Amino acid sequence: MTQTEKTRRDREQLQAAVGAAVSAYTDRNPRSREMFARAQQSLPGGNTRTGTHMDPFPFYADRGEGVLLFDLDGHPLLDFVNNNTALILGHAHPAVVQALQQQLPKGTGFPRPQVLEVEMAELLRERIPSLELLRFCSSGTEAVLNALRTARAFTGRHKTAKFEGAYHGIDEHAMVSFLPPLGPELGPDDRPRSVPSTAGLTAAVTEDVLVLPFNDLAACESIIGDNAGDLAAVIVDPVSTGAGLALPEGDFLKGLLEIAHRAGALVIFDEIVSFRASAGGAQAVFDVVPDLTCLGKVVAGGTPGGVFGGRADLMALYDPASGPPAIPQSGTFNANPFALNAGLATLRAMTTQAYEKLDSLTAVVVGDLQTAFDAAGVPASVIAVGSIFRVYFLPEAPRNYRQAAADDSLLQRWLHFSLLNRDIYWRDGGNLSLPMEREHVDHLTSAVRDCLRELQ
Ligand SMILES: Cc1ncc(COP(=O)(O)O)c(C=O)c1O
Repeated sequence: MTQTEKTRRDREQLQAAVGAAVSAYTDRNPRSREMFARAQQSLPGGNTRTGTHMDPFPFYADRGEGVLLFDLDGHPLLDFVNNNTALILGHAHPAVVQALQQQLPKGTGFPRPQVLEVEMAELLRERIPSLELLRFCSSGTEAVLNALRTARAFTGRHKTAKFEGAYHGIDEHAMVSFLPPLGPELGPDDRPRSVPSTAGLTAAVTEDVLVLPFNDLAACESIIGDNAGDLAAVIVDPVSTGAGLALPEGDFLKGLLEIAHRAGALVIFDEIVSFRASAGGAQAVFDVVPDLTCLGKVVAGGTPGGVFGGRADLMALYDPASGPPAIPQSGTFNANPFALNAGLATLRAMTTQAYEKLDSLTAVVVGDLQTAFDAAGVPASVIAVGSIFRVYFLPEAPRNYRQAAADDSLLQRWLHFSLLNRDIYWRDGGNLSLPMEREHVDHLTSAVRDCLRELQ
């Protein structure tokens, strides 16, 4: 048999394995299937959060308890998704539940400032020194929107730059070149074109967003240099989670700061996911000091909330003490007591020892999964930062979006459904929660080994 014939046969076998896994999933989730049929009557395609879409139908969440997510059909799924990294303490952690229960009889929100917001601001400034001043908002998207506006207002410039593939929420500028389909229309590797990632963007927005390739400083320098007079800011997720997970090489982040600053542009770190990496976020891990930082997810303890902040001279644009501020920022739910209570309870539980525990368990997952794939002869790269890990079915860890996008989506689909059928929920890897112990990560590795055996 020639190599081409063997490859074709392997793909046919994989396709059949995917079919069998999806069929088993369908059989074991009748209530979710029915609910999806009902949802389609009221929600477009049954969906109200694009990322929850699953072909042929999504499983519905019923409740969570520690490391487990119970679906509508009653399966206790070992949860490595944790609401897309937000639940670093897992589901319904007693400290978070208590904080929310104590708040409930006191009221759900006030049009006045509260002590809680001062406490949270102090805690965040202690953990992330680049946050000289900060403000609250209601989501990661809002944090990004505000940070980008701050940069445009401060510099008086209209362009922003982002990295190809990166996700920064659904603000107008953020919806350029978010996971664009690979193809010649993306332009050369070192000069990515700006591609709208949603209908409804004006051409002016797409033109105002420059797209940079991750881990390529020379290309960043050239693109930023060509737009130096117009560029307000570069926004970067330091570990490129939206594009999969790509870790910054060497001094990439430091170099990026230098290049941007030389061009008179600010650097915004989107740490909405990477704040999981350590008490001080990825900026502490990689020892870099951005001008502005966006937070979400973990910072609100798994409830809706966001934070943006940074240099005092930039945040002064919001100061209303001596007349209307340059940037008015209102929001009925800014600094909502539920987000603050849940966030404070979460951050207080995330002690140095807690981060150490998560980091060392994640190192076990990475090592054991890599060994399992190697032993099965399946080319794979398992990488991690803090408690976030990602499996790529690629012989080497990707350096940027284009390499990450070449991942084998059929193998990912097969493993996703095969693990779900074994009561494990992950998405191309996942993240750990504090209640997880060695037994849980061992359970994951042995389930992956089972799946691989079944495939062979
Ligand atoms: C890196 C990153 N930035 C921004 C966002 C947007 O946050 P939110 O969903 O709270 O609007 C997300 C959400 O997944 C994210 O992963």
